[in-house]
Amino acid sequence: MQELETYAMAWSSPVSDAVRAQVDKATTSLAYVDMASGPMMRGLLGFLVRASKAQRVLEIGTFIGTSAMGMAEAMDSLRDRQDPHAPHVPQDSHGPHAPYLLTIDKNKRYIELVKDAFAQEPYASIIESVEGDALAMLCAGDPRIFTPQRWDLIFLDGDKAHYPEYIEHVVELLRVGGVLVIDNVLWYGLVLDAETLATDKLASDADAHKPNATREEKHKQKAVAIDQMNQRLAQDPRLTIQILPFGDGLTLATRIQ
Ligand SMILES: C[S@@+](CC[C@H](N)C(=O)[O-])C[C@H]1O[C@@H](n2cnc3c(N)ncnc32)[C@H](O)[C@@H]1O
Repeated sequence: MQELETYAMAWSSPVSDAVRAQVDKATTSLAYVDMASGPMMRGLLGFLVRASKAQRVLEIGTFIGTSAMGMAEAMDSLRDRQDPHAPHVPQDSHGPHAPYLLTIDKNKRYIELVKDAFAQEPYASIIESVEGDALAMLCAGDPRIFTPQRWDLIFLDGDKAHYPEYIEHVVELLRVGGVLVIDNVLWYGLVLDAETLATDKLASDADAHKPNATREEKHKQKAVAIDQMNQRLAQDPRLTIQILPFGDGLTLATRIQ
């Protein structure tokens, strides 16, 4: 499998020098970078941006910034092309101009880590990095997220335990025809046991959200929450959904109404 992945990467478009440098920087300053999307996932995000000609992208969960950088590079490449058939996206006179990518993370350390990379072009003119709790911002109707224009692409990659609450908002925020990408939707395969886990005291909401919940309790609770989200999304008539058993599971959805 590893050999096939190496082969697939060898014959895919290369990662940019800036993204590679950011991965190197993060690797030296953090003890862990495995939460970051790998090159294949970043390539896929770039592909989705290009294929959908996304001009306005919302990312929840910045981490080391490389998924945002990959998407911004794709947005920048679209900017150079004058496609007469491109869907007309009206500019919001009050909001930021397209292409625009808003990425949110609640962790100050990660926000600091991405500053230098995001200050370079083409990222600087496309990406806005915001420190904050994305769910609280959604619940409060933060105008940076609730712009009159809907988002063309939303990448949900934040706190998995609250995924069901996120989707209450994000589907509404997506424009019709827009793309919703959600990572970790199979949660190490544990979604298969979600029903049992949901009745298990360890995974119940009250226990998993308590301040001293163990890692294992939180891990199981995330599987229950993700399964709940997957089921709700599948029943949402506004969406078509494809779950891919890629990485830790990836949902690709488009809003059809
Ligand atoms: C899996 S990482 C994101 C990886 C990144 N999108 C990528 O593809 O490389 C998840 C990130 O979500 C952030 N996060 C978790 N809960 C959050 C919340 N409530 N609001 C904003 N960010 C949150 C974490 O700090 C972490 O950086």
